[in-house]
Amino acid sequence: MEKLLQHHQSLKITHFLPELTALISSHRELLSHPKGNVLKYTMALQDLPVISHDSSRSYHNIDTKRVGKGTGYEISDSTKEKIRTSLMRLAPWRKGPFEMFGIEIDSEWQSWMKWNRFIDKIAPLQNRRILDIGSSNGYYMFRMAAHNPVMILGLEPQYAFYFQYLALQRYLNIENVFCLPVTFDELPVMSRYFDTVFCMGVLYHRKSPIDMLKKINDLMRPGGELILENLIIESDEHICLFPEERYAKMRNVFFIPSLNVLKSWLKRTGFGNIKCLDICRTEPEEQRKTPWIQTESLTDFLDPEDPSKTIEGYPSPVRAILSAKSFC
Ligand SMILES: C[S@@+](CC[C@H](N)C(=O)[O-])C[C@H]1O[C@@H](n2cnc3c(N)ncnc32)[C@H](O)[C@@H]1O
Repeated sequence: MEKLLQHHQSLKITHFLPELTALISSHRELLSHPKGNVLKYTMALQDLPVISHDSSRSYHNIDTKRVGKGTGYEISDSTKEKIRTSLMRLAPWRKGPFEMFGIEIDSEWQSWMKWNRFIDKIAPLQNRRILDIGSSNGYYMFRMAAHNPVMILGLEPQYAFYFQYLALQRYLNIENVFCLPVTFDELPVMSRYFDTVFCMGVLYHRKSPIDMLKKINDLMRPGGELILENLIIESDEHICLFPEERYAKMRNVFFIPSLNVLKSWLKRTGFGNIKCLDICRTEPEEQRKTPWIQTESLTDFLDPEDPSKTIEGYPSPVRAILSAKSFC
């Protein structure tokens, strides 16, 4: 968090500094006097062994499926075991995979599959200021960093995932990647600051997707690009599913639009040049249970008799990726 403030001049965010400082101060208190899960994650982070630059001569691997650093040969077996144990204490690892000094973190999601669906279809990330809303443990931010942007700011309010990001950064140490443990609503309106915004897997969790898209547009420079990934309902009609209670066992799912509705939301919030880059059904090859998560996964959320339906009887998850330009 502090790193963002320290780099305010080079990042040209001085104009937003008072609001960012206030935001960070409000979270600093919880992090400096941790309790409950935050205490548990803080201790796991503290127990990660320090690996000096001398013993780790390797570069990080961020332009690859399995993001990470080093090999198992450059550290002792006991150090390796300490790293594995501390990383395991930060589970569930949803996004990934990663490989740190030969330790493979086999995450629930094969996140490279989503990455491969859009990376060749969006504006180059070089020299851009990027916002990643709902950045989780930073898997996509690290992949973006390989494309030499000016900076990447992630927002991740769930402490489990924020601490995973801190653990990974402990070893990757990528200078121009930043993350704040805050919601998108808390972020000050950094008007016209970002060139590219990623909003993937977040909009269906919002009670007012329109307000979110409007605010995203306000943060973007005119001509900047939004990459939006969301659950959709497969239909040519202008319809939207609003689950009665849960969708695929999730309580916090609100609006699942058809592609036409999603495009209308974008148009009516000031976006243009809207393109659908990909549509695909989520399959167990991409989201599955591994030793790095303790919870259920996709197959537990689907009807065992008919996997084209969720356990509640709704159409099973299909996701679309769209790009759009900010016109305002
Ligand atoms: C389904 S995951 C998607 C993660 C990643 N963007 C991806 O596409 O794989 C949604 C993430 O967004 C975060 N999130 C939920 N509500 C948010 C909000 N209001 N602001 C920022 N992040 C949010 C969650 O904590 C979670 O890590």
